[in-house]
Amino acid sequence: MKLFVVAALAVCVLVPAAHCASGSIAWCYHLPSCNDTTWSTISPEYCNGTRQSPINIVSASATQNANLTEFTFVKYDDTSAMTSIENTGDTVKVTLKSGVKISGGDLSEQYDSLQFHFHWGNGSSVPGSEHTVDGKRYPMELHIVNSKSSYNGNTSLAVKDSTGLAALGFFIEVMSGNSTGQPESWRNLTSYLANITEKGQKVSIAAGFSLDDLLVGVDRTKYYRYLGSLITPTCNEAVVWTVFKEPIKVSKDLIDLFSTTVRVENSTSQLMTNVYRSLQPAQPVSTQSVRASASSTCFSLGLLLLSLALGWIWS
Ligand SMILES: *[C@@H]1O[C@H](CO)[C@@H](O)[C@H](O)[C@H]1NC(C)=O
Ligand SMILES: *[C@@H]1O[C@H](CO)[C@@H](O)[C@H](O)[C@H]1NC(C)=O
Ligand SMILES: *[C@@H]1O[C@H](CO)[C@@H](O)[C@H](O)[C@H]1NC(C)=O
Ligand SMILES: *[C@@H]1O[C@H](CO)[C@@H](O)[C@H](O)[C@H]1NC(C)=O
Ligand SMILES: *[C@@H]1O[C@H](CO)[C@@H](O)[C@H](O)[C@H]1NC(C)=O
Ligand SMILES: *[C@@H]1O[C@H](CO)[C@@H](O)[C@H](O)[C@H]1NC(C)=O
Ligand SMILES: *[C@@H]1O[C@H](CO)[C@@H](O)[C@H](O)[C@H]1NC(C)=O
Ligand SMILES: *[C@@H]1O[C@H](CO)[C@@H](O)[C@H](O)[C@H]1NC(C)=O
Ligand SMILES: *[C@@H]1O[C@H](CO)[C@@H](O)[C@H](O)[C@H]1NC(C)=O
Ligand SMILES: [Zn+2]
Repeated sequence: MKLFVVAALAVCVLVPAAHCASGSIAWCYHLPSCNDTTWSTISPEYCNGTRQSPINIVSASATQNANLTEFTFVKYDDTSAMTSIENTGDTVKVTLKSGVKISGGDLSEQYDSLQFHFHWGNGSSVPGSEHTVDGKRYPMELHIVNSKSSYNGNTSLAVKDSTGLAALGFFIEVMSGNSTGQPESWRNLTSYLANITEKGQKVSIAAGFSLDDLLVGVDRTKYYRYLGSLITPTCNEAVVWTVFKEPIKVSKDLIDLFSTTVRVENSTSQLMTNVYRSLQPAQPVSTQSVRASASSTCFSLGLLLLSLALGWIWS
C-alpha cells in the first residue's frame, strides 16, 4: 500500500503536466502515459468499475419515471455566487460561495452546489462533450458538482456514498446565426480565460452575472437521470447524474476561446483541448414520464386545430 503511494508520487514528479488527484494518482488527457486509456490501470479501484461515466444516452431506451420532478435551485439567481475561476491543468473551474444549493428532482436530500467546470474538444467544430445523446456529441459540456448537504462540503465522505454527489450536466451548442459575444453572461465569464492561461492561475470573479444567466434558455424540467461516477480519477461511483436535454446556446467565438486561450501547464506548453473521457458502457437511464409532457402535446394539437379552423375561415 505504502509502496503504491510512493510509486504514484514518483509518477507525479515524472509527469509534471499530469494532474495529481487526492490519493496521488497522476492522470491527464493529453499524454499517452496518463490519458484516459490508462485510467483503469493507474486508478483501477474505481475507474475499472461497472458504473462509470460518461455514457451515450439512448433516448428511446430511457424508461419513464414520474418521480423525476423539477428541482429547486437556491441562489442560482445570485449575481455574486461565483467567487473565483481557475485553470487546474485539466479544466477551467469556477468555485461557488456557500449557500448555493439544489433539491427536488428525485434527489434524496438537499445538495450543496460547490463548483462548476467544463469539458470541450477543439473549438466548436471538434466537439468535446462527455455525454452523448443518440451518438451526438456537443461542442462542450458544463458540470455543476453538488455534494449532500449533510456532509457539509466534506467530499471525501461524499465519494464513499453511492449517491453522495449529484452532478448537473448541461450541453453547450453553437448559437445559430452569426452573432458574437453572446449571451452576455458567457462573454463576462469567458473574459476571465485570458487571466488564467497557465495551470494554477486563479482570479476572482466580479459580481454581475448569475448561474441562471449562464443556464439561459434551458428547460430545467427536462432531463435524463442515471447513476454513474466521477469522470476523472479516482472515478468513484458516487454520482447521481442529471443530464439536461436542451443545450445552452453560446456564440461560436466564445466556445472557441476555451481551446485557444488556456494551456495545460505554462506559456510554452500546449493548449488545453479534448478534455473529456471516452464513453463507458451503458447504464439504465430514466426520464420524465410522458404525462409530464402531455400539456405540450395538447398545446401543439390545439395549435393544429386552430390553424385548421383559421384556414377554413379564410378559405
Ligand atoms: C492515449 O494513450 C494511448 C496509449 O496509452 C495512445 O495509444 C493514444 O493515442 C492516446 N490518445 C490520446 C488522445 O493521446
Ligand atoms: C478491469 O476489470 C476487468 C473485468 O472485471 C478485468 O478483467 C481487468 O483485469 C481489470 N483491469 C485492471 C487494470 O484492473
Ligand atoms: C417513485 O418513488 C416512490 C416513493 O419513493 C417509489 O416507491 C417508487 O419506486 C419510485 N418509482 C421509480 C420509478 O423509481
Ligand atoms: C485544434 O485545432 C487547431 C486549428 O483548427 C489545430 O491547429 C490544432 O492542431 C488542433 N489541436 C488538436 C490537439 O487537435
Ligand atoms: C471529512 O470527514 C472525515 C471523516 O469524518 C475526516 O477524517 C476528515 O478530516 C474530513 N475532511 C475535511 C476536509 O473536513
Ligand atoms: C453569416 O455570415 C455569412 C458570411 O459572413 C453569410 O453568408 C450568412 O448568410 C450569414 N448567416 C446568417 C444566418 O446571418
Ligand atoms: C456582465 O458584467 C457586467 C460588469 O460586471 C455586469 O454589469 C452585467 O450585469 C453582466 N451581464 C450579464 C448578463 O451577465
Ligand atoms: C485580467 O486581465 C486583464 C488584462 O490583463 C486585467 O486588466 C484584469 O484586471 C485581469 N482581471 C483579473 C480579475 O485579474
Ligand atoms: C513549461 O512546462 C514544461 C512541462 O510541461 C517544462 O518542461 C518547461 O520547462 C516549462 N517552461 C517554463 C518556461 O516554465
Ligand atoms: Zn466534469
